[in-house]
Amino acid sequence: MTIGSRPAPFGRRAATVTARETYGAYVVLRCHDPGGPQPRAGQFYMLAAAERWGGGEAERPFLPRAFSVLRALERDLHFLLEDVGPGTSRLTELAPGEDLLLVGPLGNGFTGPREGRTPLLVGGGVGVAPLAIWQDQLGRAARALLGFRDRVHADGAALLHDPTIATDDGSVGYHGLVTDLLGEELDVRADQIEVYACGPPAMLEAVRAMCAERAVPGQLALESGMACGFGACFGCVVPTVHGYIRLCLEGPVLDAQVLPTAAIVGAGH
Ligand SMILES: Cc1cc2nc3c(=O)[nH]c(=O)nc-3n(C[C@H](O)[C@H](O)[C@H](O)COP(=O)(O)OP(=O)(O)OC[C@H]3O[C@@H](n4cnc5c(N)ncnc54)[C@H](O)[C@@H]3O)c2cc1C
Ligand code: FES
Repeated sequence: MTIGSRPAPFGRRAATVTARETYGAYVVLRCHDPGGPQPRAGQFYMLAAAERWGGGEAERPFLPRAFSVLRALERDLHFLLEDVGPGTSRLTELAPGEDLLLVGPLGNGFTGPREGRTPLLVGGGVGVAPLAIWQDQLGRAARALLGFRDRVHADGAALLHDPTIATDDGSVGYHGLVTDLLGEELDVRADQIEVYACGPPAMLEAVRAMCAERAVPGQLALESGMACGFGACFGCVVPTVHGYIRLCLEGPVLDAQVLPTAAIVGAGH
């Protein structure tokens, strides 16, 4: 079956949780997905718990929720979760041996840097997830600048190799915004960098504007509300300079140049 010109995604399947780890405010779930396609960095999965997914008596079952793949190692998929509501709350309590239901990998991921440029990864909060698998693929020399609210969230920085850290409250690393660190880099070597960013809407809008000002190529992993994840519901549309697109199909990674001013803040939560 196809939707538009796209093949239907690999079907929904059960994947057993093999490990649950905490990194400060975050939970990493690992699950075994022996038959699924290998994901690319920046792609995502729609996840649901196999049991008690809002389906108790008199409860309405939840829709699945979207999560970037954090890492893919030896047929195990890793996901980084922040508990922000009922869906993430249920997922973060899953224990080894329990089943996740997943659909994916979905969407378009990152592509390699343009000739003559080196990658610079810029992440904020739970947005570090797609940058970890991207650094795995690019190699450890790929530099990462990561921003977090405070010390307990900054524990998530351990998921990448040798990052430079900024915190809003100054409890770890540079006291200020990760985009301050990006500005310092761009002041010195704007002509040598390609920026890869994922984070909250305000951070991504700042990154987009900084790249536009200095004509630096950037690839931004965006979020929007997603009900299906594969093009059927039109719940995830975002504006671009070429018109509206479904982020689950054309993204979630978009070239910074296609995003109009302030479109990201409007599309985010
Ligand atoms: C492509 C993609 C990749 C993502 N990757 C991750 C990830 O790696 N780790 C992670 O923890 N979260 C990720 N998210 C966000 C995650 O999907 C939401 O946090 C989750 O759906 C919230 O569900 P909930 O039931 O816990 O909370 P809800 O009660 O549904 O929402 C809590 C808050 O988050 C907002 N929200 C809910 N869903 C989304 C969404 N899809 N986009 C933007 N805002 C939303 C709501 O408006 C509300 O303010 C990703 C989202 C997308 C679209
Ligand atoms: S999430 Fe349904 S069309 Fe994108």
